[in-house]
Amino acid sequence: MALSSVPSGVNVVWLIPVFASLVLQCLATADRGSDCSASEEDPRVAPIPHWDEAPSSLADYPRHGDRTVVDPWVYTDRLGLYKILLRATSGDPTLGKANNTANILWGLPLQHGWQFSSGRLLDFPNGTRWHSGTSTMRMHNSWNCISPFSWWASMNYYLSVLPFLGAVKAGLFSEWPYEIEFTFSSHHPQDYCTSLATCNARFPSVIKDWADFFKILTYRSASPDPYYQTTANQGDSFNLPPSPPPTFSPRERDIITKLWVAHTNSLETAQPLFNASLLPLMPEPEQIFGLSWAHLIGYIATVDFVTDLNTTILFQRKYLPGRVLQPGDRPPKIPDFSRDVNLALYILETALKIDQQTGDALKHAWQAVMCSPESQARGRSMIGNLLRPFEALWNLVVLLWLYVTVCH
Ligand SMILES: *[C@@H]1O[C@H](CO)[C@@H](O)[C@H](O)[C@H]1NC(C)=O
Ligand SMILES: *[C@@H]1O[C@H](CO)[C@@H](O)[C@H](O)[C@H]1NC(C)=O
Ligand SMILES: *[C@@H]1O[C@H](CO)[C@@H](O)[C@H](O)[C@H]1NC(C)=O
Ligand SMILES: *[C@@H]1O[C@H](CO)[C@@H](O)[C@H](O)[C@H]1NC(C)=O
Repeated sequence: MALSSVPSGVNVVWLIPVFASLVLQCLATADRGSDCSASEEDPRVAPIPHWDEAPSSLADYPRHGDRTVVDPWVYTDRLGLYKILLRATSGDPTLGKANNTANILWGLPLQHGWQFSSGRLLDFPNGTRWHSGTSTMRMHNSWNCISPFSWWASMNYYLSVLPFLGAVKAGLFSEWPYEIEFTFSSHHPQDYCTSLATCNARFPSVIKDWADFFKILTYRSASPDPYYQTTANQGDSFNLPPSPPPTFSPRERDIITKLWVAHTNSLETAQPLFNASLLPLMPEPEQIFGLSWAHLIGYIATVDFVTDLNTTILFQRKYLPGRVLQPGDRPPKIPDFSRDVNLALYILETALKIDQQTGDALKHAWQAVMCSPESQARGRSMIGNLLRPFEALWNLVVLLWLYVTVCH
């Protein structure tokens, strides 16, 4: 399980002052009562722009001889990979539930859609659309270009192309007669792999982890046209989660754990590649946000967070910044962001800062208290209710209690 890597001698008491200070920060910015989480949403965070224009089967991509060619530097081409994966896994009894809205793969395209709508796929540092002379026919729409000078775009390569190739390796598209090839990046092509053979040779453990995830799903490659939607509800699933929060069936747990293992491996593989080259192109507050965003994975993977359609949309609208952070932006005091977004940024950056200064003490404490399925369920609900301080403190007390009673 995700817990095996926790070193001994972890001091879970770390969590107490950190949570207490977050509560204070939260109360300091709250304008009414104890609930810091007003339901403010950033209209700039649209679900997935241009989703309907993306390919929905491999046949929608161009073919050159015996190869199907996907250009990962075209936004709708990347979206198409996600759409195909959602479609191929919609027959799974766990993922396909509720008309495929329960599919935890939704987290990936929603994330990419946010990157697009918030301007994070543009050229850094100058925020223009990338025009590449060498790229393909579908590039005449410049809105559709993904810049190879974007740290976010390059990190996302490892969360789009590599998962897709993992699915290919797992046999999801064994009936597809052509080889699938990805167009080279016009900048630093050596940082990316472009086919199953080269990706497998270069990042065998990443491809294997994604293939392991896809292998445990049941899918019907011949199913007619399974449903995927983005006209999601504006529901309230963050308000008043069931108490105690629900735990998973063994199968659900297995699937979600494998997803997070693969996701974490992708990010950990990509991060060092772009740390020195692309990260510094971004404004400094955005660099810190990007690093803390990548760091967050250590927290959400530990609780087996569910990235289905409804949860991810709510989460993104509430907590994600709708534009790139600029010099001078200092959370939690960025005027054009909602208080929720400001506090979420502040919490992410605080966690990163503490972990940088303490050799990941906070993360290890968090991982240590996530020592039982009940703890993980509670941790999930805490992440979903990040800005409800008293609930978070209460949950922390229960977590520490579980830690002492169940895990020791
Ligand atoms: C997501 O929301 C829709 C609309 O409210 C609902 O029909 C669906 O069951 C929800 N999906 C899940 C997995 O809860
Ligand atoms: C910024 O804009 C200039 C042209 O205005 C362009 O040449 C350059 O490639 C862009 N991107 C970077 C990362 O400098
Ligand atoms: C489920 O998907 C089908 C097929 O696309 C659609 O017609 C139907 O309205 C969806 N049902 C619900 C409850 O959303
Ligand atoms: C990337 O650089 C930052 C400092 O800028 C550092 O904190 C982080 O650990 C680095 N990550 C990797 C994976 O090298």
